Amino acid sequence: EIKVHRWFLFSKAVCLFLSSVSECVAVTGQTGQNITLPCKYDIKTNGPTEVCWGRGPVPNSRCSHQLLATDGYKVKEETRVSSRYQLKGRLDEGDVSLTIMNITEEDTGLYGCRVEISGPFNDEKHHVNLTVKRAPRLTTTPSSDTTSSSSDSPQTTAATPTAGTKHTLMRMRRDV
Ligand SMILES: *[C@@H]1O[C@H](CO)[C@@H](O)[C@H](O)[C@H]1NC(C)=O
Ligand SMILES: *[C@@H]1O[C@H](CO)[C@@H](O)[C@H](O)[C@H]1NC(C)=O
Ligand SMILES: *[C@@H]1O[C@H](CO)[C@@H](O)[C@H](O)[C@H]1NC(C)=O
Repeated sequence: EIKVHRWFLFSKAVCLFLSSVSECVAVTGQTGQNITLPCKYDIKTNGPTEVCWGRGPVPNSRCSHQLLATDGYKVKEETRVSSRYQLKGRLDEGDVSLTIMNITEEDTGLYGCRVEISGPFNDEKHHVNLTVKRAPRLTTTPSSDTTSSSSDSPQTTAATPTAGTKHTLMRMRRDV
């Protein structure tokens, strides 16, 4: 908890140059993960509000290199540049966090979330600095079982590579 907080303060300082009213957080993920970049606004005060996500700092209007935009209630499909970009949070609670599916190292970089609060110069600008690290090479369970064509042993299901991967990742994270 303390570590996360310090990271946040540090990244906030690093990102301060972007805008005096912007927020900036650092997020680190590994290739192959689905990663969520946080962005929330006060929907009780402002009502459902249009939001856009883009790459790079949020400019004076709209979003640069836009990835998707909402009409306040849902993603405007014509604005979504790839199905890898999704909003999985409760939009009706102001949670417009961006989930990027199956991240690669090319996804590293700064992302901007603009909440278009009505009135001049009221827009909220949130920034997330994403770092994607290559997932370590993992030894997966031997796949000899999968070559068996018969279904005579349905109860001896071998651990799937997915389960093994998750376990290894969790163990590594605890070691850090
Ligand atoms: C984003 O994070 C990287 C790696 O920690 C850092 O080098 C870079 O300066 C950060 N960028 C911003 C805008 O904070
Ligand atoms: C990413 O999300 C998709 C769709 O929800 C899911 O099928 C997939 O297993 C997820 N990947 C990881 C690494 O969690
Ligand atoms: C994830 O991305 C990698 C590299 O782009 C690709 O090879 C792989 O098929 C993708 N996996 C899924 C589940 O989309």
